[in-house]
Amino acid sequence: MASDTNLLKATTDKVVLIGDVGVGKTSIFTRFKSNEFDESSKGHNPKEDKFTKMWKPSGGSEVSITLFDTAGIERHMSTIPPTYFRSAKAVILVYSITDAETFDSLSNWIENAVSAMGVGTGGLVKVLVGNKVDLDSDRQVDRNRAEEFAKNVDINSKFVLETSAKTNKGIDDLFNLVAMEIAPSVKQSPKGGAPKTEKSKCCSQT
Ligand code: GTP
Repeated sequence: MASDTNLLKATTDKVVLIGDVGVGKTSIFTRFKSNEFDESSKGHNPKEDKFTKMWKPSGGSEVSITLFDTAGIERHMSTIPPTYFRSAKAVILVYSITDAETFDSLSNWIENAVSAMGVGTGGLVKVLVGNKVDLDSDRQVDRNRAEEFAKNVDINSKFVLETSAKTNKGIDDLFNLVAMEIAPSVKQSPKGGAPKTEKSKCCSQT
């Protein structure tokens, strides 16, 4: 039988990537997995749809994150199956800053996540990621527009980021933010008693 320690080690938080075809989900996944970027990537390798890694944000506790990529299933289906979202602690909504259509799809992606998770979305961390920021000269979506959208769907502006999977810009910030938010924060009791563990209250979202 597994000991408690082993059970604790086996605990990992599920984080899912969603967004339109070609926005860079697999490239962000590969950055998370091996800190590489494949310029010639022609989409997802269906054998690599999840990867677990310990992530330690500066000033926070180490968290085990299992990152899920869609394995390109959004190419063949209008919606991602509900099982993709099951038990997820955080969802990373990716669009490309160079393609306004991928930004316009975000509402549908959020609806998919919410309907798949039903009542379970109360504590779901949602992060909005504008990828391909290295292509700023081709930008179609201003950061202000992303922040405005986030406000309308109850995503705190703290969870609006821009990244480049190509140059690695913002990728560490993304996973630091996710890790900080899903990690239990440890609070010292006022009388120096046993530390109390609770979920971060910061920036709660609906
Ligand atoms: P599917 O798996 O097909 O749904 O797409 P995806 O969202 O996983 O996108 P993917 O990571 O396959 O990237 C699509 C294309 O965009 C590839 O040619 C990548 O090399 C390119 N790409 C991804 N991220 C970036 C980025 O940050 N900057 C630039 N310039 N290109 C990127």
